[in-house]
Amino acid sequence: MGRGAVARHGAALLVLGLTACCLLQGSAAAPRSVAMGIDLGTDNSVVALARKQGVDIVANEASQRSTPSIVSFGHDQRFVGEGGFSQRLMNLKNTVVEPKRMLAKRVSDRAFMDELKVEPFEVVEGEGGEVAVKVQLCGSERVFRPVQVIATLLANLKKIAETDHEAEVVDVAISVPCFFTEHQRRAIRAAAEIAGLKCLRLINDNTATALAYGITKTDLPEAEPRKIAFVDCGRDCMQVSIVAFKKGHLKVLSHAYSKSVSGRRVDSILFDHFAAEFAQKHKLDVRSQDKARLRLILQCEKLKKTLSAVPLDLESPLNVECLMNDMDVSSTLTRQQLETMLDEQKLFDSVAATCQEALTLAGVTKEELDGVELVGGTSRIPALRANLGGFFNKECKTTINAAESVARGAALACAMDSPSFKVREFKVTDWNMYPVEMAYKSQDGAATGSVLLKRGAEVPGAESLKLDTASPVSLEWAYTQDADVAADVPRALASHELKVSAKKGVLKQSVLAKVGLDNSGCVTVAEANLETQVEEILPPPKSKPPPPAPAAADKAGGGAGKADGKDADEEMGEAKEEGDAGKADKKTKNDKKPEDKAQEEKEEEKAPEKRVVTRREKIPVLLSCVMAHVSCVMPPAMCALVHLSKHSALPSSHVPICHPAVHARIHAPMHVSMCIVASAHACAHAWRAETSIQECTQGCTHSACFRRCVMKEYSH
Ligand SMILES: Nc1ncnc2c1ncn2[C@@H]1O[C@H](COP(=O)(O)OP(=O)(O)OP(=O)(O)O)[C@@H](O)[C@H]1O
Ligand SMILES: [Mg+2]
Repeated sequence: MGRGAVARHGAALLVLGLTACCLLQGSAAAPRSVAMGIDLGTDNSVVALARKQGVDIVANEASQRSTPSIVSFGHDQRFVGEGGFSQRLMNLKNTVVEPKRMLAKRVSDRAFMDELKVEPFEVVEGEGGEVAVKVQLCGSERVFRPVQVIATLLANLKKIAETDHEAEVVDVAISVPCFFTEHQRRAIRAAAEIAGLKCLRLINDNTATALAYGITKTDLPEAEPRKIAFVDCGRDCMQVSIVAFKKGHLKVLSHAYSKSVSGRRVDSILFDHFAAEFAQKHKLDVRSQDKARLRLILQCEKLKKTLSAVPLDLESPLNVECLMNDMDVSSTLTRQQLETMLDEQKLFDSVAATCQEALTLAGVTKEELDGVELVGGTSRIPALRANLGGFFNKECKTTINAAESVARGAALACAMDSPSFKVREFKVTDWNMYPVEMAYKSQDGAATGSVLLKRGAEVPGAESLKLDTASPVSLEWAYTQDADVAADVPRALASHELKVSAKKGVLKQSVLAKVGLDNSGCVTVAEANLETQVEEILPPPKSKPPPPAPAAADKAGGGAGKADGKDADEEMGEAKEEGDAGKADKKTKNDKKPEDKAQEEKEEEKAPEKRVVTRREKIPVLLSCVMAHVSCVMPPAMCALVHLSKHSALPSSHVPICHPAVHARIHAPMHVSMCIVASAHACAHAWRAETSIQECTQGCTHSACFRRCVMKEYSH
């Protein structure tokens, strides 16, 4: 159970902790700057830590550099990662694998539900029609949403990082596939928050790889960019991205993906082959038993990996002990046979189609590419590599570590976003996958219109809005009709409300906002200000100097004018001009006769001097709808629910109510900590949260603020 070895990366000294003294001391108690990157894989997750020394991949409790994305729910405890993997065969029905691909999916997606039929755990319809899993936990039946299972995985990865770092690790960047929708991205962020992590950003898998690849390069061109294709073949899909590198900048030109090319697909092709063989040879129906199915599929995966490393015509064995009916079975296969099967299943056609799509979207030809980099476990299949090489007409390189590049890139991205680190200047511009339309409407109807964030728009990116209105403005975000998302994905994404109110005595008021996509690819209101123009009366001069001698009068008059001008300058440029005008005016006044002066002063008293001042103030923004139906209740400690409901004032009936918009971490009297995500509307009665949210969003929509608010509410 050692902490495991860590590998130092060549990018050492790229990342410099600002709190260098603490880092160098190395004391266990000292707070040490660290930024975590998580490659949250469908099959395996990898943790990287960016510290002063560089980027390290952290090994888990079994000294493995990747951790299975599995949670097994037992009678008296949960097994996560390595533990979950070892429990898988013994606790089939209560072991949830690959939760990432179920995230924010709906039961109305029939094709996906058919895919899930082969899984031994029970899939049920959760809140809002979402896919959820039903398991036995602590002797009682519980329904968990994928986001909750992912929160458990993230909490485990956090623990692995903290064991290595010997201090708390909070800041994280998490990788996601390029095709993740807004709902899925927000669900990952919610899961991170439940796990006690502060997700500084989500980064697309290939963008993370490109960052890890590019930031160490010292020979990037200044003018014509170097164009590289990154191909990631993993468990769930194949992703192809074309990236242009210039000195200090990477720009993603396109993303394309295919779910037909994946490790799971290859395993299932092998499974079908051997299931048919054993049915014929031994009259065994492997599909009729969950355990037999899993036993065979695990051996197929093992055989697939073996075949990647042996000559084309060498027969490799497949043995399954006690497959079913107490029968041991065995067979053999050559790599040549596997490749023929993959070809027959048109796997390589999908490879070529996906690569071509990425090139077309980027507007780049194969010849213009300067290189092709392969990552991901499935890219180890020799036929796949050869096929990709054939398509691009280039040798496909593996300069970067195929299994760890995503986590390294994510850790670097996290360090770049963290205030505790200074990282070499390197700008990352990503590519928007799905077109989004934002329709805005002010309550008084004075300002209506829409903003389109096109497919391929820069991420992060913002558009400016100027609306002449004195009433609240609602912004409704939705995927456009032509967005290439599954038919059952809800088009509506979020709605922001800009809390504008009519100001008294203003000449004009307008709303200035910056709307667009944040660095995680989620819709956001980056800035919202209210600009008002008011007429201001200049204060009369405080005391009049005694009639001076001509020379002194000139001096004093100029000084007063200057002072006026300075005040105005502090407020607004326009006023400064008026101040200067006043200065000239006063100078001539001293040359006038006393009776004229008295007359003028009288007139001045009658009509005080005015100026128009423009003011800006922040507008509170209320994110009133994030995701309609994502729930997040995750006890980090086993059976925390039971303890909490027994020993705290919180009634157990309130525990499973959830929404990621608001959440509180509550420390129950037994020091059992747990996260509760409360729905603004569902919990309004129990928590009186609705009022809190309103108060809380005055100037701040950050979740930490929500948290404080709900905690306050709870402590009442
Ligand atoms: N030597 C090998 N030959 C063939 N396939 C392999 C080999 N090693 C691993 N794989 C396969 O690679 C897949 C896992 O790859 P990886 O860890 O990159 O996926 P992931 O990141 O978990 O998934 P994803 O990126 O799709 O979410 C598994 O299907 C595994 O069987
Ligand atoms: Mg992956």
